[in-house]
Amino acid sequence: MTNVKFGADAWDQRFSGHTYAYGELPNQWLEQCIGPMKPGLASFPADGEGRNAVWAATKGWTAEVFDLSTVGKEKCEKLAKKHGVSVDYDVDDLELRTFKPNRYDLIACSWFHVPWSIFVEHYPRMLSSLKPGGEFVCEGYHTSQMEMTSGGPKSLDLLWELDEVLEVIGNGFEIIHAKVEQVELDESDLHRGVANVVRLHLHKQN
Ligand SMILES: C[S@@+](CC[C@H](N)C(=O)[O-])C[C@H]1O[C@@H](n2cnc3c(N)ncnc32)[C@H](O)[C@@H]1O
Repeated sequence: MTNVKFGADAWDQRFSGHTYAYGELPNQWLEQCIGPMKPGLASFPADGEGRNAVWAATKGWTAEVFDLSTVGKEKCEKLAKKHGVSVDYDVDDLELRTFKPNRYDLIACSWFHVPWSIFVEHYPRMLSSLKPGGEFVCEGYHTSQMEMTSGGPKSLDLLWELDEVLEVIGNGFEIIHAKVEQVELDESDLHRGVANVVRLHLHKQN
């Protein structure tokens, strides 16, 4: 297994074009889950160029992002301005970030893949900032995505097995939805076509 860590420079490079690497529209799974929710305070970890946070802000959410990429922050600010909203964006690293407990009504992320040892140590810390009664929504690539050409890291160390993910983060949550699904992605040239994904919607118990 390769332990791939794509650093801030690589993400800055990816986001340095005029267009948006994963499109300007929100991730479909996030939109489907968050759309019916009552807006509150939301965190969008690793939101890159900010498409999910900006969309949520247009729906009345107070949206915060943390992400490694300075260029991602600039692109997010541009997208937010285009939509007449604001997003509070910190350039920060999951591994170094301090999380305030019980802060958010919602935490939502798409394609936030990190090496497994980092996932195990830091995803639970990140989720501790969710309020009791809050929602966690995310989409990531399944291990069976390795052979597919519709996006995702080509390292089993970064891809997800549903039972392993739930073992790490599922404690204290009611499962609203937790499935491996084959979906048709159409986010951008980087995420297009049939893909094997893990889709989660968890509700933090009181
Ligand atoms: C595949 S992109 C997805 C961006 C965004 N979620 C979307 O769907 O458009 C992965 C993002 O994770 C961020 N990222 C990776 N490792 C991180 C870390 N340790 N801390 C914070 N952000 C990280 C990258 O900077 C990048 O923006």
